[in-house]
Order: sequence, then C-alpha cells, then structure tokens
Amino acid sequence: MKAFRKLLQRTPFYGVYKALGHYPDYWYWKLRGEPIRSPHLLKQRTVRDYAQRYGLRVLVETGTYYGEMVAAMKNRFAEIHSVEFDSQLARRAAKKFSRWPHIHILEGDSQKVVPELLKSLHQPALFWLDAGYYGWAGLQGDKQRLTSELESILGHSTQKHVILMDDARGLNGQNGAPTVPQLKQRIEAEFPGRNVEVKYDILRITPR
Ligand SMILES: C[S@@+](CC[C@H](N)C(=O)[O-])C[C@H]1O[C@@H](n2cnc3c(N)ncnc32)[C@H](O)[C@@H]1O
Repeated sequence: MKAFRKLLQRTPFYGVYKALGHYPDYWYWKLRGEPIRSPHLLKQRTVRDYAQRYGLRVLVETGTYYGEMVAAMKNRFAEIHSVEFDSQLARRAAKKFSRWPHIHILEGDSQKVVPELLKSLHQPALFWLDAGYYGWAGLQGDKQRLTSELESILGHSTQKHVILMDDARGLNGQNGAPTVPQLKQRIEAEFPGRNVEVKYDILRITPR
C-alpha cells in the first residue's frame, strides 16, 4: 500500500486519489469521536465559511503541498495565491493549475514571500497558514517563522484580513512555542481590534 501510494504521488492523479478520501476521512474522524487532528474536509469548510462570513474574495495559502486546498477553493475565490517551499511540489502545482489564471503558485519560503505579497494586496484576504507550523519548526527549523508571518499580516495597512492557522495543537508552550492564551494576549495587546480563538485545531484571528 505504501509503495502504491509513493508511486501514485508521482502521477497527476494523486490529487484526485486524495480528494476521493475526503468524505471517508471525515466520517472516520466523526466515528472516532472527533480527535484533535481534524480532517481536510472540515478545513475546507472552515475556509469557505470564513470567506463567506467576512465577504473575502482573495485566498492566500502557505504550504501548497499537493494543491488540495487550492483545488477545493478554485471556484470560490476571485484570486488565489499559494506559497510552497519545495520546488518540486511548487512546479507540479503550477503546472496543475496553469489553466486557471486567477491561481498563482509562488515558489519560496512563506516567511519571505508573504511580506512581499502583502505589498501588492489592497483588499482584505483570507490567510490559510498551513506550512507545517506544528512544533513551530519549518523546513529550516526556524521557530520564529510563524511569528514573523503573523506579524507581517497583522501589521499590514489592511486591517480586515482573516487568518486561519492549521495545527494549533503546536501552540503548547513547548520548544519555544507560546500557548494559545499567551499568543492571544500578545496579539490582542499589540494589534487591538482582533479576536483570537482556537476550534478544531485551527487558530482563528478575525477582525472585531
Ligand atoms: C500540511 S502541508 C500543506 C497542505 C495544504 N495547505 C492543503 O491544505 O492541502 C505543508 C506544506 O508546507 C510546505 N512548507 C514547509 N515550510 C514552508 C515554508 N517555509 N514556506 C512555504 N512552504 C513551506 C511543505 O513543503 C508542505 O508542502
């Protein structure tokens, strides 16, 4: 099974294969009593719900991976920017989404790409931060990566951005990571006018 999966990963059908598993995954998660790691379908619903609730037409994602979120959201947003560090994955996604001109796959480190992207962003956006922040260590083992991304978004001139960050269980006070109450206190003190909460392993920062 592992070998088959590895083989499939190299083909353009891997995205379809993963998408087929979304519903079984969701029901399996429900059956197990909703453990902390939430299924992709729930993440998709959360992104969609917040976009609708706040009237957002631009999606910025960190961590493209196999483009599952981009594929699920491609008809929901007028503009999608997705940042991927791994050049093979970035090239693959760029090819996959090349016929949708409103989808932009940006290769690079989200820590550098997000602040650059913000310079040309003149309307509120939904940020789906999903570049493997669990444990707060990225590919470069940089524990400050998430802080710098959050700060650049929160400090942007457009104050109506909505931020959703996956893997909030990493905010556990260990290995240099703050706890949720610590992060909440810091954000609310430094960037007033924001609500911070965690539900289903997703940190949600919204304008008041
Ligand atoms: C959990 S996966 C993303 C899943 C995807 N967002 C989705 O919903 O389908 C994490 C991805 O983040 C990428 N990544 C890790 N560090 C990164 C960084 N500093 N900048 C951009 N992408 C990064 C990894 O290569 C991996 O593809």
